[in-house]
Amino acid sequence: MKTIKLNDMTIYVAKNYDEMSQKGAEIIAELLKAKPDAALGLATGGTPVGMYKELIEMNKKGEISFKEVSSYNLDEYYPIEKTNDQSYDYFMRDNLFNHVDIDINNTHIPNGMAADCAAEGKAYDELVRATGGVDIQVLGIGGNGHIGFNEPCDVFDPITHQVTLDERTIRDNARFFNSIEEVPTQAITMGIGTIMTAKSILLLASGKGKAPIVKEMLLGKVTPQVPASILQFHKDVKIVLDEEAAAELLSEIE
Ligand code: F6R
Repeated sequence: MKTIKLNDMTIYVAKNYDEMSQKGAEIIAELLKAKPDAALGLATGGTPVGMYKELIEMNKKGEISFKEVSSYNLDEYYPIEKTNDQSYDYFMRDNLFNHVDIDINNTHIPNGMAADCAAEGKAYDELVRATGGVDIQVLGIGGNGHIGFNEPCDVFDPITHQVTLDERTIRDNARFFNSIEEVPTQAITMGIGTIMTAKSILLLASGKGKAPIVKEMLLGKVTPQVPASILQFHKDVKIVLDEEAAAELLSEIE
Protein backbone atom coordinates (compact mmCIF):
# COMPACT_ATOMS: atom_id res chain seq x y z
CA MET A 1 0.00 0.00 0.00
CA LYS A 2 1.29 3.45 -0.90
CA THR A 3 2.50 5.23 2.28
CA ILE A 4 3.29 8.93 2.49
CA LYS A 5 4.91 10.80 5.40
CA LEU A 6 3.72 14.38 5.84
CA ASN A 7 5.26 15.98 8.96
CA ASP A 8 4.04 13.81 11.87
CA MET A 9 1.28 12.26 9.80
CA THR A 10 1.39 8.93 8.00
CA ILE A 11 -0.97 8.64 5.06
CA TYR A 12 -1.93 5.26 3.61
CA VAL A 13 -3.56 5.14 0.19
CA ALA A 14 -5.71 2.04 -0.20
CA LYS A 15 -7.14 0.90 -3.54
CA ASN A 16 -10.75 1.07 -2.46
CA TYR A 17 -13.18 1.18 0.46
CA ASP A 18 -12.61 -2.47 1.41
CA GLU A 19 -8.85 -2.10 1.54
CA MET A 20 -9.21 1.14 3.54
CA SER A 21 -11.49 -0.69 6.00
CA GLN A 22 -9.05 -3.56 6.33
CA LYS A 23 -6.09 -1.26 6.97
CA GLY A 24 -8.06 0.68 9.60
CA ALA A 25 -9.00 -2.59 11.32
CA GLU A 26 -5.37 -3.77 11.26
CA ILE A 27 -4.25 -0.58 13.01
CA ILE A 28 -6.83 -1.06 15.76
CA ALA A 29 -6.09 -4.79 16.04
CA GLU A 30 -2.40 -4.07 16.49
CA LEU A 31 -3.23 -1.72 19.37
CA LEU A 32 -5.57 -4.24 21.02
CA LYS A 33 -2.92 -6.97 20.82
CA ALA A 34 -0.36 -4.69 22.48
CA LYS A 35 -2.83 -3.18 24.97
CA PRO A 36 -5.92 -5.37 25.59
CA ASP A 37 -7.46 -2.74 27.89
CA ALA A 38 -7.12 0.10 25.38
CA ALA A 39 -9.49 3.07 25.43
CA LEU A 40 -10.94 3.51 21.94
CA GLY A 41 -12.44 6.76 20.65
CA LEU A 42 -15.06 5.75 18.10
CA ALA A 43 -16.96 7.38 15.25
CA THR A 44 -20.21 6.70 13.42
CA GLY A 45 -21.23 7.57 9.84
CA GLY A 46 -20.84 5.55 6.67
CA THR A 47 -17.05 5.51 6.56
CA PRO A 48 -16.11 3.24 9.53
CA VAL A 49 -18.83 0.63 8.95
CA GLY A 50 -16.52 -1.60 6.85
CA MET A 51 -13.76 -1.31 9.43
CA TYR A 52 -16.16 -2.34 12.19
CA LYS A 53 -17.18 -5.37 10.07
CA GLU A 54 -13.51 -6.37 9.79
CA LEU A 55 -13.05 -5.98 13.56
CA ILE A 56 -16.13 -8.15 14.19
CA GLU A 57 -14.62 -10.87 11.97
CA MET A 58 -11.26 -10.68 13.76
CA ASN A 59 -13.07 -10.92 17.10
CA LYS A 60 -15.10 -13.96 15.93
CA LYS A 61 -11.89 -15.68 14.81
CA GLY A 62 -10.36 -15.03 18.25
CA GLU A 63 -7.63 -12.78 16.86
CA ILE A 64 -8.64 -9.83 19.04
CA SER A 65 -10.75 -9.31 22.14
CA PHE A 66 -12.73 -6.31 23.37
CA LYS A 67 -13.31 -7.80 26.86
CA GLU A 68 -11.15 -5.21 28.62
CA VAL A 69 -11.70 -2.37 26.14
CA SER A 70 -13.49 0.86 26.98
CA SER A 71 -14.90 3.12 24.27
CA TYR A 72 -15.82 6.77 23.96
CA ASN A 73 -17.85 7.93 20.99
CA LEU A 74 -17.38 11.31 19.40
CA ASP A 75 -20.93 12.51 19.24
CA GLU A 76 -24.67 11.99 19.41
CA TYR A 77 -27.63 13.79 17.89
CA TYR A 78 -29.66 15.97 20.26
CA PRO A 79 -32.31 15.45 21.40
CA ILE A 80 -32.62 11.75 20.59
CA GLU A 81 -33.55 8.62 22.56
CA LYS A 82 -31.06 5.72 22.64
CA THR A 83 -33.82 3.47 21.31
CA ASN A 84 -34.28 5.59 18.18
CA ASP A 85 -32.68 3.67 15.31
CA GLN A 86 -31.16 6.94 14.06
CA SER A 87 -29.29 7.51 17.32
CA TYR A 88 -25.55 6.95 17.35
CA ASP A 89 -26.08 4.80 20.42
CA TYR A 90 -28.22 2.47 18.29
CA PHE A 91 -25.70 2.69 15.41
CA MET A 92 -22.82 1.55 17.62
CA ARG A 93 -24.76 -1.38 19.06
CA ASP A 94 -25.92 -2.37 15.58
CA ASN A 95 -22.58 -1.99 13.80
CA LEU A 96 -20.14 -3.12 16.50
CA PHE A 97 -21.04 -3.58 20.16
CA ASN A 98 -23.73 -6.28 19.71
CA HIS A 99 -21.34 -8.41 17.67
CA VAL A 100 -18.15 -8.38 19.75
CA ASP A 101 -17.21 -9.36 23.30
CA ILE A 102 -17.17 -5.78 24.62
CA ASP A 103 -18.79 -5.10 28.01
CA ILE A 104 -21.56 -2.63 27.10
CA ASN A 105 -21.06 -0.94 30.50
CA ASN A 106 -17.61 0.12 29.31
CA THR A 107 -18.99 1.89 26.22
CA HIS A 108 -19.70 5.62 26.39
CA ILE A 109 -21.66 7.91 24.09
CA PRO A 110 -22.80 11.45 24.89
CA ASN A 111 -26.35 11.37 26.25
CA GLY A 112 -28.70 12.60 23.53
CA MET A 113 -31.40 13.21 26.14
CA ALA A 114 -29.28 15.18 28.62
CA ALA A 115 -31.36 17.80 30.42
CA ASP A 116 -28.32 20.05 30.66
CA CYS A 117 -25.90 19.77 27.72
CA ALA A 118 -23.21 21.86 29.39
CA ALA A 119 -23.19 19.53 32.42
CA GLU A 120 -23.27 16.49 30.11
CA GLY A 121 -20.28 17.85 28.18
CA LYS A 122 -18.33 18.48 31.35
CA ALA A 123 -19.07 15.00 32.71
CA TYR A 124 -18.14 13.43 29.35
CA ASP A 125 -14.82 15.29 29.25
CA GLU A 126 -14.11 14.06 32.81
CA LEU A 127 -14.69 10.50 31.64
CA VAL A 128 -12.34 10.93 28.69
CA ARG A 129 -9.77 12.66 30.88
CA ALA A 130 -9.88 9.73 33.34
CA THR A 131 -8.53 7.48 30.55
CA GLY A 132 -5.50 9.74 30.30
CA GLY A 133 -6.53 10.40 26.70
CA VAL A 134 -7.99 7.62 24.54
CA ASP A 135 -5.31 5.41 22.99
CA ILE A 136 -6.69 5.87 19.50
CA GLN A 137 -9.41 8.19 18.22
CA VAL A 138 -11.20 7.03 15.08
CA LEU A 139 -12.40 9.91 12.91
CA GLY A 140 -14.22 10.39 9.66
CA ILE A 141 -14.30 13.79 8.00
CA GLY A 142 -17.31 15.81 6.91
CA GLY A 143 -17.38 17.29 3.41
CA ASN A 144 -17.03 20.68 5.13
CA GLY A 145 -14.01 19.56 7.17
CA HIS A 146 -15.82 18.77 10.40
CA ILE A 147 -14.49 16.16 12.82
CA GLY A 148 -16.96 14.89 15.35
CA PHE A 149 -19.64 17.53 14.85
CA ASN A 150 -17.20 20.42 15.19
CA GLU A 151 -18.50 22.47 12.29
CA PRO A 152 -16.51 25.25 10.56
CA CYS A 153 -16.51 28.33 12.80
CA ASP A 154 -14.32 31.13 14.11
CA VAL A 155 -12.68 29.34 17.05
CA PHE A 156 -11.67 25.77 17.88
CA ASP A 157 -14.04 24.53 20.59
CA PRO A 158 -12.04 23.00 23.44
CA ILE A 159 -14.71 20.96 25.22
CA THR A 160 -17.62 18.62 24.63
CA HIS A 161 -20.57 20.83 23.78
CA GLN A 162 -23.93 21.23 22.07
CA VAL A 163 -23.82 22.30 18.42
CA THR A 164 -26.16 23.35 15.66
CA LEU A 165 -25.40 21.26 12.61
CA ASP A 166 -24.31 22.93 9.40
CA GLU A 167 -26.70 22.95 6.46
CA ARG A 168 -24.15 20.90 4.53
CA THR A 169 -23.97 18.27 7.31
CA ILE A 170 -27.76 18.04 7.42
CA ARG A 171 -27.83 17.59 3.64
CA ASP A 172 -25.05 14.98 3.71
CA ASN A 173 -26.69 13.01 6.53
CA ALA A 174 -30.14 13.11 4.91
CA ARG A 175 -29.15 9.91 3.05
CA PHE A 176 -29.63 7.98 6.29
CA PHE A 177 -33.19 9.35 6.82
CA ASN A 178 -36.49 9.18 4.92
CA SER A 179 -36.39 12.92 4.31
CA ILE A 180 -34.16 15.89 5.09
CA GLU A 181 -36.80 17.23 7.52
CA GLU A 182 -36.14 14.22 9.77
CA VAL A 183 -32.42 14.98 10.22
CA PRO A 184 -31.79 16.39 13.71
CA THR A 185 -30.44 19.93 13.64
CA GLN A 186 -28.52 19.69 16.93
CA ALA A 187 -25.92 17.38 18.40
CA ILE A 188 -23.51 16.97 21.32
CA THR A 189 -19.92 16.52 20.23
CA MET A 190 -16.49 16.10 21.76
CA GLY A 191 -14.70 19.39 21.32
CA ILE A 192 -11.57 19.80 19.24
CA GLY A 193 -9.65 20.07 22.53
CA THR A 194 -11.10 16.75 23.70
CA ILE A 195 -10.23 15.07 20.39
CA MET A 196 -6.67 16.40 20.50
CA THR A 197 -6.05 14.72 23.90
CA ALA A 198 -6.12 11.34 22.11
CA LYS A 199 -2.73 9.62 22.16
CA SER A 200 -3.15 8.74 18.50
CA ILE A 201 -5.58 9.51 15.71
CA LEU A 202 -6.89 7.27 12.93
CA LEU A 203 -8.83 9.21 10.30
CA LEU A 204 -10.54 7.36 7.45
CA ALA A 205 -11.93 8.89 4.26
CA SER A 206 -13.36 7.30 1.17
CA GLY A 207 -14.81 8.41 -2.15
CA LYS A 208 -14.28 11.34 -4.51
CA GLY A 209 -16.66 13.58 -2.57
CA LYS A 210 -14.00 13.76 0.18
CA ALA A 211 -11.05 14.50 -2.16
CA PRO A 212 -11.14 18.34 -1.94
CA ILE A 213 -11.47 18.46 1.85
CA VAL A 214 -8.79 15.80 2.39
CA LYS A 215 -6.33 17.97 0.44
CA GLU A 216 -7.44 21.07 2.36
CA MET A 217 -7.10 19.36 5.74
CA LEU A 218 -3.55 18.21 5.04
CA LEU A 219 -2.09 20.98 2.89
CA GLY A 220 -4.19 24.02 3.77
CA LYS A 221 -3.64 26.36 6.67
CA VAL A 222 -4.72 25.33 10.15
CA THR A 223 -8.01 27.11 10.76
CA PRO A 224 -11.28 26.48 12.62
CA GLN A 225 -12.97 27.04 9.26
CA VAL A 226 -11.55 23.59 8.37
CA PRO A 227 -11.74 21.92 11.80
CA ALA A 228 -9.84 18.78 10.68
CA SER A 229 -6.83 20.93 9.79
CA ILE A 230 -5.97 20.99 13.52
CA LEU A 231 -4.72 17.41 13.06
CA GLN A 232 -1.62 18.90 11.44
CA PHE A 233 -0.64 19.81 15.02
CA HIS A 234 -1.13 16.31 16.47
CA LYS A 235 1.99 14.20 16.95
CA ASP A 236 0.61 10.77 16.03
CA VAL A 237 -1.85 10.77 13.14
CA LYS A 238 -2.58 7.97 10.71
CA ILE A 239 -4.81 8.78 7.76
CA VAL A 240 -6.21 5.95 5.66
CA LEU A 241 -7.68 7.03 2.33
CA ASP A 242 -8.94 5.19 -0.66
CA GLU A 243 -7.62 6.27 -4.07
CA GLU A 244 -10.64 8.46 -4.79
CA ALA A 245 -10.37 10.38 -1.54
CA ALA A 246 -6.60 10.75 -2.03
CA ALA A 247 -6.81 11.94 -5.66
CA GLU A 248 -6.53 15.72 -5.15
CA LEU A 249 -3.88 15.39 -2.44
CA LEU A 250 -1.76 13.14 -4.63
CA SER A 251 -2.04 15.39 -7.67
CA GLU A 252 -0.72 18.25 -5.51
CA ILE A 253 2.23 16.50 -3.87
CA GLU A 254 3.37 14.08 -6.56
C1 F6R B 1 -19.49 10.63 13.18
C2 F6R B 1 -18.86 11.93 13.05
C3 F6R B 1 -18.75 12.67 11.76
C4 F6R B 1 -18.50 11.76 10.55
C5 F6R B 1 -18.47 12.60 9.27
C6 F6R B 1 -18.29 11.73 8.04
O1 F6R B 1 -19.49 10.18 14.52
O2 F6R B 1 -18.43 12.45 14.04
O3 F6R B 1 -17.71 13.60 11.86
O4 F6R B 1 -17.29 11.07 10.71
O5 F6R B 1 -19.66 13.33 9.16
O6 F6R B 1 -19.42 10.95 7.86
P1 F6R B 1 -19.48 9.80 6.76
O7 F6R B 1 -18.53 8.73 7.24
O8 F6R B 1 -20.90 9.31 6.78
O9 F6R B 1 -19.05 10.41 5.47
